[in-house]
Amino acid sequence: MYLWVKAFHIIFVVAWMAGMLIYPRYKLHQLASQPGEPLFETMREAAERLRRIILTPAMLAVWVLGLVLVALNTGLLSSGWLWVKIVLVLGLSGMHGFFISLGRKIDNGDAAVPAKNLKMLNELPFVLMIIITILVVVRPF
Ligand code: HEM
Repeated sequence: MYLWVKAFHIIFVVAWMAGMLIYPRYKLHQLASQPGEPLFETMREAAERLRRIILTPAMLAVWVLGLVLVALNTGLLSSGWLWVKIVLVLGLSGMHGFFISLGRKIDNGDAAVPAKNLKMLNELPFVLMIIITILVVVRPF
């Protein structure tokens, strides 16, 4: 049972991370075009489908399955790595919300952020994912 939960936890982590890397890319294409243009509309719809079908459901599944793992293995609560991991995942969840709110502004034609800044922000979830994975696998403390 525990290993099945952990397996699906990791499966949804992969889906969430994939969504966090793709969603800003769609928004960058929108920033490179104008509302009403075919590229803008195609990218807006693709981003909305990604958000609704993959990005948000995967984030929720990662949290629920992660907390179920803790509930099934409460001894982990005394591990420093888990608390640092949860703080970093809160950061990742905050970035999720930020990307979605930014995406809505861009959909309304409000170039809320310069494209070069969004390109830089787009890399941050990947950096966080690397640190989180090292924490949970290597458990340095
Ligand atoms: C708040 C959300 C999360 C919680 C509460 C949580 C909690 C946990 C727990 C308790 C385990 C099992 C540890 C074990 O028994 O070996 C686990 C495994 C794992 N988690 Fe999470 N996790 C969360 C989010 C994430 C995220 C966002 C990532 C990656 C970006 C991630 C990556 C992993 C990996 C790779 C494993 C497997 C580690 C192993 O088998 O050695 N988790 N998680």
